[in-house]
Amino acid sequence: MKFLIPLAFLAMALPALADRMPLPANTPASFKAECGSCHLAYPPALLAAKDWKSTMAGLSDHFGSDAAVDAKSGQEIAAFLERNAGNAAKLGNAGSPPRITLSARFVRKHDEVPAKFWRDPRIKSAANCEACHRDATKGGFSERDIIIPELRH
Ligand code: HEC
Ligand code: HEC
Repeated sequence: MKFLIPLAFLAMALPALADRMPLPANTPASFKAECGSCHLAYPPALLAAKDWKSTMAGLSDHFGSDAAVDAKSGQEIAAFLERNAGNAAKLGNAGSPPRITLSARFVRKHDEVPAKFWRDPRIKSAANCEACHRDATKGGFSERDIIIPELRH
C-alpha cells in the first residue's frame, strides 16, 4: 500500500502545473533579449508550434511594431519556441496573427475576469500579463498572486 502516498501527492500537485510556466533552463539568451524587451518573454507553451512559426515569419510587421531579428537569432528563437510549444488541440485557435490572449485556453482560464478589466488603465491590454500576475516574469500565474485587488479571491 506504500505506493498510495506518492500517488496522493501527485494528484495534489497536478492542478498546480497549469499555473507554473517558468522558461526552460536552456532558453536561449536571444529569446529573452529579443522577445522580452517590449513585453513579457511569453512562456512557449502558451502557443502551438504552427502559431510560433507564423509569429516568427511576420516579425517585421508585428502588431504594428518592427520586431525583426537577425537570421541567426531568428532560427535559434524559432527552434526554441517550436520545440517547447503547447498542445495545439488543448490551446485551440489563436487567430491570425496568433495571440495567446485569443486562444480558447486563455479565454477559458480567464472566464471570471469581467471584460472591462482588459482595458483598465492599470492593465492596458490582456497581453500585459504582469499587470495582473505578480510572478509572471518568473512564470507564476497562480490565481492566488493577482495584483489587482478586485480580481483577487
Ligand atoms: C518592438 C517591440 C516588440 C518586440 C521586440 C516583440 N514584440 Fe511581441 N508584441 C509587441 C506588441 C506591441 C504586441 C501587441 C501587444 C498588445 O496587443 O497589447 C505584441 C504581441 C505579441 C504576441 C501576442 C500577445 C497576445 O495578445 O496574446 C506574441 C505571441 C508576441 N508578441 C511574441 C513575440 C516574440 C516571439 C518576439 C520575439 C521574436 C516578440 N514578440 C518581440 C511588440 C513587440
Ligand atoms: C486583468 C488581469 C489579468 C491579465 C492581464 C492576465 N490574467 Fe491570467 N488570470 C487573471 C485572473 C484573475 C486569473 C484567475 C482565474 C479566474 O479568476 O478566472 C487568471 C488565471 C490565469 C491562469 C490560470 C492559472 C491556474 O491556476 O490555472 C493562467 C495560466 C494565466 N492566467 C495566464 C495569463 C497570461 C499568460 C497572461 C498574459 C498573456 C494573463 N494571464 C493575463 C488575471 C489576468
